[in-house]
Amino acid sequence: MNAQADTTKSKADKPEPETEKNWWLKFYQDTPFIQYLDNAHREDQEEILAFLSVHTPLPEGAVIYDQCCGVGSISLPLAGQGHTVYGTDLCPQFIDEAKRRAEILKVQNRAHYLLADATTYTTPSPCDLAVNLYTSFGYGDDGVNLAMLKMVRGCLKEGAPFLLDFPNFYLVISSFRKHIVRHIDTATGTLTVNREAAFSPETGRLLQEWTFIEADGKRSCQKSSLAVYLPHQIKDMLRQVGFERIELMGDFHGTPFGVNSPRCIALAR
Ligand SMILES: C[S@@+](CC[C@H](N)C(=O)[O-])C[C@H]1O[C@@H](n2cnc3c(N)ncnc32)[C@H](O)[C@@H]1O
Repeated sequence: MNAQADTTKSKADKPEPETEKNWWLKFYQDTPFIQYLDNAHREDQEEILAFLSVHTPLPEGAVIYDQCCGVGSISLPLAGQGHTVYGTDLCPQFIDEAKRRAEILKVQNRAHYLLADATTYTTPSPCDLAVNLYTSFGYGDDGVNLAMLKMVRGCLKEGAPFLLDFPNFYLVISSFRKHIVRHIDTATGTLTVNREAAFSPETGRLLQEWTFIEADGKRSCQKSSLAVYLPHQIKDMLRQVGFERIELMGDFHGTPFGVNSPRCIALAR
Protein backbone atom coordinates (compact mmCIF):
# COMPACT_ATOMS: atom_id res chain seq x y z
CA MET A 1 0.00 0.00 0.00
CA ASN A 2 1.44 3.37 -0.90
CA ALA A 3 2.32 5.15 2.31
CA GLN A 4 2.05 8.57 0.69
CA ALA A 5 1.30 8.85 -2.96
CA ASP A 6 -0.37 12.06 -3.84
CA THR A 7 -1.26 15.36 -2.38
CA THR A 8 -4.03 17.81 -1.66
CA LYS A 9 -4.53 20.41 1.03
CA SER A 10 -3.35 19.81 4.59
CA LYS A 11 -5.56 20.04 7.68
CA ALA A 12 -4.97 21.13 11.23
CA ASP A 13 -3.29 18.60 13.53
CA LYS A 14 -5.65 15.96 14.91
CA PRO A 15 -5.11 13.68 17.89
CA GLU A 16 -3.40 10.42 16.97
CA PRO A 17 -5.94 7.84 15.83
CA GLU A 18 -5.92 4.59 17.74
CA THR A 19 -5.36 1.56 15.56
CA GLU A 20 -6.45 -1.95 16.41
CA LYS A 21 -3.83 -4.63 16.85
CA ASN A 22 -3.85 -6.86 13.74
CA TRP A 23 -5.71 -4.10 11.90
CA TRP A 24 -4.90 -5.71 8.55
CA LEU A 25 -7.27 -8.63 9.21
CA LYS A 26 -10.27 -6.29 8.81
CA PHE A 27 -8.83 -3.52 6.69
CA TYR A 28 -8.63 -5.39 3.39
CA GLN A 29 -11.67 -7.61 3.82
CA ASP A 30 -14.02 -4.78 4.79
CA THR A 31 -13.11 -2.13 2.20
CA PRO A 32 -13.09 -1.84 -1.60
CA PHE A 33 -9.27 -1.84 -1.40
CA ILE A 34 -9.19 -4.36 -4.24
CA GLN A 35 -10.04 -1.49 -6.62
CA TYR A 36 -7.19 0.54 -5.20
CA LEU A 37 -4.76 -2.35 -5.73
CA ASP A 38 -5.97 -3.02 -9.27
CA ASN A 39 -5.57 0.63 -10.14
CA ALA A 40 -2.04 0.77 -8.71
CA HIS A 41 -0.92 -2.36 -10.52
CA ARG A 42 -2.48 -1.30 -13.82
CA GLU A 43 0.13 1.45 -13.64
CA ASP A 44 3.15 -0.48 -12.32
CA GLN A 45 2.66 -4.13 -13.33
CA GLU A 46 4.69 -3.96 -16.54
CA GLU A 47 7.44 -2.00 -14.83
CA ILE A 48 7.72 -4.55 -12.01
CA LEU A 49 7.76 -7.49 -14.43
CA ALA A 50 10.45 -5.80 -16.52
CA PHE A 51 12.44 -5.09 -13.34
CA LEU A 52 12.24 -8.76 -12.34
CA SER A 53 13.36 -9.98 -15.75
CA VAL A 54 16.47 -7.77 -15.54
CA HIS A 55 17.38 -8.05 -11.84
CA THR A 56 16.14 -11.53 -10.95
CA PRO A 57 16.35 -13.60 -14.16
CA LEU A 58 14.67 -16.94 -13.57
CA PRO A 59 15.35 -20.45 -14.83
CA GLU A 60 12.61 -22.06 -16.88
CA GLY A 61 9.87 -23.46 -14.64
CA ALA A 62 11.07 -21.54 -11.58
CA VAL A 63 9.32 -21.62 -8.21
CA ILE A 64 8.22 -18.21 -6.91
CA TYR A 65 6.78 -17.13 -3.57
CA ASP A 66 4.50 -14.07 -3.54
CA GLN A 67 4.42 -13.21 0.16
CA CYS A 68 1.27 -11.20 1.07
CA CYS A 69 0.11 -11.67 -2.50
CA GLY A 70 -3.15 -9.70 -2.50
CA VAL A 71 -4.98 -10.77 -5.68
CA GLY A 72 -1.74 -12.02 -7.27
CA SER A 73 -1.29 -9.03 -9.58
CA ILE A 74 2.40 -9.75 -10.15
CA SER A 75 2.60 -13.50 -9.58
CA LEU A 76 -0.25 -14.35 -11.98
CA PRO A 77 1.66 -13.08 -15.02
CA LEU A 78 4.72 -14.99 -13.74
CA ALA A 79 2.60 -18.15 -13.63
CA GLY A 80 1.56 -17.22 -17.17
CA GLN A 81 5.25 -17.37 -18.13
CA GLY A 82 5.31 -21.02 -17.02
CA HIS A 83 6.62 -20.60 -13.46
CA THR A 84 5.10 -22.22 -10.38
CA VAL A 85 3.75 -19.69 -7.91
CA TYR A 86 2.81 -19.86 -4.25
CA GLY A 87 0.96 -16.86 -2.85
CA THR A 88 -0.22 -16.28 0.70
CA ASP A 89 -2.49 -13.64 2.09
CA LEU A 90 -4.70 -13.26 5.15
CA CYS A 91 -7.55 -11.59 3.28
CA PRO A 92 -10.11 -14.22 2.17
CA GLN A 93 -11.57 -11.91 -0.47
CA PHE A 94 -8.16 -11.46 -2.10
CA ILE A 95 -7.30 -15.16 -2.06
CA ASP A 96 -10.67 -16.05 -3.62
CA GLU A 97 -10.11 -13.42 -6.30
CA ALA A 98 -6.53 -14.58 -6.99
CA LYS A 99 -7.82 -18.14 -7.47
CA ARG A 100 -10.62 -16.91 -9.73
CA ARG A 101 -8.16 -14.95 -11.86
CA ALA A 102 -5.81 -17.97 -12.01
CA GLU A 103 -8.67 -20.00 -13.48
CA ILE A 104 -9.54 -17.32 -16.01
CA LEU A 105 -5.88 -17.25 -17.08
CA LYS A 106 -5.80 -21.08 -17.04
CA VAL A 107 -2.78 -21.16 -14.72
CA GLN A 108 -4.57 -22.69 -11.71
CA ASN A 109 -2.38 -25.82 -11.96
CA ARG A 110 0.74 -23.85 -11.17
CA ALA A 111 -0.56 -20.77 -9.31
CA HIS A 112 -1.38 -21.77 -5.75
CA TYR A 113 -3.00 -19.13 -3.58
CA LEU A 114 -3.54 -19.84 0.09
CA LEU A 115 -5.21 -18.11 2.99
CA ALA A 116 -2.24 -18.21 5.35
CA ASP A 117 -0.20 -16.05 7.69
CA ALA A 118 3.11 -15.11 6.11
CA THR A 119 4.75 -14.96 9.54
CA THR A 120 4.41 -18.75 9.84
CA TYR A 121 3.92 -20.08 6.28
CA THR A 122 6.60 -22.03 4.40
CA THR A 123 6.37 -22.95 0.72
CA PRO A 124 6.22 -26.71 -0.01
CA SER A 125 9.44 -26.51 -2.03
CA PRO A 126 12.40 -24.09 -2.02
CA CYS A 127 11.95 -21.05 -4.25
CA ASP A 128 14.04 -19.35 -6.94
CA LEU A 129 12.52 -15.96 -6.11
CA ALA A 130 10.35 -14.41 -3.40
CA VAL A 131 8.65 -11.03 -3.49
CA ASN A 132 6.85 -8.85 -0.97
CA LEU A 133 5.35 -5.97 -2.91
CA TYR A 134 3.52 -2.69 -2.43
CA THR A 135 4.06 -2.17 1.29
CA SER A 136 2.90 -5.53 2.58
CA PHE A 137 5.52 -5.41 5.33
CA GLY A 138 5.81 -3.43 8.57
CA TYR A 139 2.25 -3.95 9.78
CA GLY A 140 3.09 -5.68 13.05
CA ASP A 141 5.64 -4.89 15.76
CA ASP A 142 9.34 -5.52 15.16
CA GLY A 143 9.00 -9.17 16.27
CA VAL A 144 6.16 -9.86 13.82
CA ASN A 145 7.95 -8.07 11.00
CA LEU A 146 11.18 -9.96 11.59
CA ALA A 147 9.21 -13.22 11.65
CA MET A 148 7.86 -12.41 8.20
CA LEU A 149 11.38 -11.87 6.84
CA LYS A 150 12.69 -14.97 8.60
CA MET A 151 10.00 -17.12 7.01
CA VAL A 152 10.62 -15.76 3.52
CA ARG A 153 14.37 -16.36 3.92
CA GLY A 154 13.61 -19.97 4.83
CA CYS A 155 11.51 -20.43 1.67
CA LEU A 156 14.39 -19.58 -0.69
CA LYS A 157 17.04 -21.72 -2.35
CA GLU A 158 20.58 -20.82 -1.31
CA GLY A 159 21.50 -17.46 -2.88
CA ALA A 160 18.07 -16.92 -4.45
CA PRO A 161 16.74 -13.33 -4.40
CA PHE A 162 14.06 -11.72 -2.25
CA LEU A 163 12.52 -8.44 -3.36
CA LEU A 164 11.02 -6.20 -0.68
CA ASP A 165 9.17 -3.09 -1.83
CA PHE A 166 8.68 -0.60 1.01
CA PRO A 167 8.06 3.18 1.21
CA ASN A 168 11.07 5.46 1.35
CA PHE A 169 10.40 7.10 4.69
CA TYR A 170 12.97 9.85 4.05
CA LEU A 171 10.65 11.04 1.30
CA VAL A 172 7.42 10.36 3.21
CA ILE A 173 8.70 12.50 6.10
CA SER A 174 10.27 15.28 4.03
CA SER A 175 7.16 15.75 1.89
CA PHE A 176 4.66 14.75 4.52
CA ARG A 177 1.00 15.23 3.67
CA LYS A 178 -1.61 14.92 6.39
CA HIS A 179 -4.52 14.73 4.02
CA ILE A 180 -4.51 12.78 0.77
CA VAL A 181 -7.41 12.27 -1.63
CA ARG A 182 -7.48 9.97 -4.63
CA HIS A 183 -10.21 9.49 -7.19
CA ILE A 184 -9.99 6.10 -8.86
CA ASP A 185 -11.90 5.07 -11.99
CA THR A 186 -13.49 1.67 -11.51
CA ALA A 187 -15.93 -0.43 -13.51
CA THR A 188 -18.76 0.82 -11.26
CA GLY A 189 -17.80 4.50 -11.25
CA THR A 190 -15.43 6.66 -9.25
CA LEU A 191 -14.03 5.42 -5.97
CA THR A 192 -12.82 8.23 -3.70
CA VAL A 193 -10.19 7.38 -1.13
CA ASN A 194 -9.48 9.91 1.63
CA ARG A 195 -6.56 9.45 3.97
CA GLU A 196 -5.73 11.33 7.15
CA ALA A 197 -2.18 10.58 8.19
CA ALA A 198 -0.13 11.24 11.31
CA PHE A 199 3.13 10.00 12.79
CA SER A 200 3.20 8.56 16.27
CA PRO A 201 6.51 9.64 17.81
CA GLU A 202 5.67 7.37 20.78
CA THR A 203 5.64 4.23 18.67
CA GLY A 204 7.56 5.22 15.53
CA ARG A 205 4.62 4.43 13.28
CA LEU A 206 2.66 6.05 10.47
CA LEU A 207 -1.02 6.01 11.40
CA GLN A 208 -3.66 6.52 8.74
CA GLU A 209 -7.45 6.77 8.73
CA TRP A 210 -8.85 5.69 5.37
CA THR A 211 -12.32 6.54 4.11
CA PHE A 212 -13.50 4.81 0.95
CA ILE A 213 -16.52 6.34 -0.81
CA GLU A 214 -17.90 4.19 -3.61
CA ALA A 215 -19.83 5.48 -6.62
CA ASP A 216 -23.17 4.53 -5.00
CA GLY A 217 -22.26 6.59 -1.90
CA LYS A 218 -21.35 3.59 0.31
CA ARG A 219 -18.68 4.60 2.81
CA SER A 220 -16.24 2.42 4.72
CA CYS A 221 -13.61 3.59 7.18
CA GLN A 222 -10.56 1.73 8.44
CA LYS A 223 -7.32 2.59 10.22
CA SER A 224 -3.85 1.36 9.37
CA SER A 225 -0.54 1.50 11.20
CA LEU A 226 2.85 1.02 9.59
CA ALA A 227 6.30 0.79 11.19
CA VAL A 228 8.57 3.62 10.07
CA TYR A 229 11.70 1.78 8.94
CA LEU A 230 14.50 3.70 7.26
CA PRO A 231 16.56 1.92 4.60
CA HIS A 232 19.44 1.01 6.95
CA GLN A 233 16.92 -0.56 9.35
CA ILE A 234 15.41 -2.63 6.55
CA LYS A 235 18.91 -3.78 5.66
CA ASP A 236 19.67 -4.63 9.31
CA MET A 237 16.51 -6.73 9.58
CA LEU A 238 17.28 -8.55 6.34
CA ARG A 239 20.80 -9.30 7.63
CA GLN A 240 19.41 -10.51 10.95
CA VAL A 241 17.42 -13.23 9.18
CA GLY A 242 20.40 -14.40 7.12
CA PHE A 243 20.49 -12.36 3.90
CA GLU A 244 24.08 -11.42 3.08
CA ARG A 245 24.03 -9.29 -0.05
CA ILE A 246 21.48 -6.48 -0.07
CA GLU A 247 21.14 -3.92 -2.82
CA LEU A 248 18.84 -0.90 -2.39
CA MET A 249 17.04 0.65 -5.32
CA GLY A 250 14.72 3.64 -5.39
CA ASP A 251 12.20 2.56 -8.01
CA PHE A 252 11.28 -0.22 -10.40
CA HIS A 253 13.50 1.25 -13.09
CA GLY A 254 16.38 0.01 -10.93
CA THR A 255 17.64 3.52 -10.08
CA PRO A 256 20.09 3.36 -7.16
CA PHE A 257 18.45 4.39 -3.88
CA GLY A 258 18.61 8.06 -2.83
CA VAL A 259 16.85 10.01 -0.07
CA ASN A 260 14.36 11.39 -2.61
CA SER A 261 13.57 8.04 -4.21
CA PRO A 262 9.88 7.17 -4.45
CA ARG A 263 10.38 3.72 -2.91
CA CYS A 264 12.86 1.70 -0.87
CA ILE A 265 13.29 -1.51 -2.83
CA ALA A 266 15.62 -4.06 -1.28
CA LEU A 267 16.98 -6.90 -3.37
CA ALA A 268 18.41 -9.37 -0.89
CA ARG A 269 20.25 -12.67 -1.38
C1 LIG B 1 -1.17 -3.38 0.31
S1 LIG B 1 -1.63 -5.02 0.09
C2 LIG B 1 -0.54 -5.50 -1.20
C3 LIG B 1 -0.89 -6.84 -1.81
C4 LIG B 1 0.08 -7.36 -2.86
N1 LIG B 1 1.41 -7.57 -2.33
C5 LIG B 1 0.14 -6.47 -4.06
O1 LIG B 1 1.22 -5.98 -4.42
O2 LIG B 1 -0.90 -6.28 -4.71
C6 LIG B 1 -0.96 -5.79 1.54
C7 LIG B 1 -1.39 -7.22 1.73
O3 LIG B 1 -0.61 -7.82 2.77
C8 LIG B 1 -1.45 -8.80 3.38
N2 LIG B 1 -0.85 -9.18 4.66
C9 LIG B 1 -0.47 -8.37 5.66
N3 LIG B 1 0.04 -9.09 6.68
C10 LIG B 1 -0.02 -10.40 6.30
C11 LIG B 1 0.37 -11.61 6.91
N4 LIG B 1 0.92 -11.65 8.12
N5 LIG B 1 0.19 -12.75 6.22
C12 LIG B 1 -0.37 -12.74 4.99
N6 LIG B 1 -0.77 -11.61 4.37
C13 LIG B 1 -0.59 -10.45 5.02
C14 LIG B 1 -2.78 -8.10 3.49
O4 LIG B 1 -3.84 -8.98 3.72
C15 LIG B 1 -2.85 -7.40 2.12
O5 LIG B 1 -3.47 -8.18 1.17
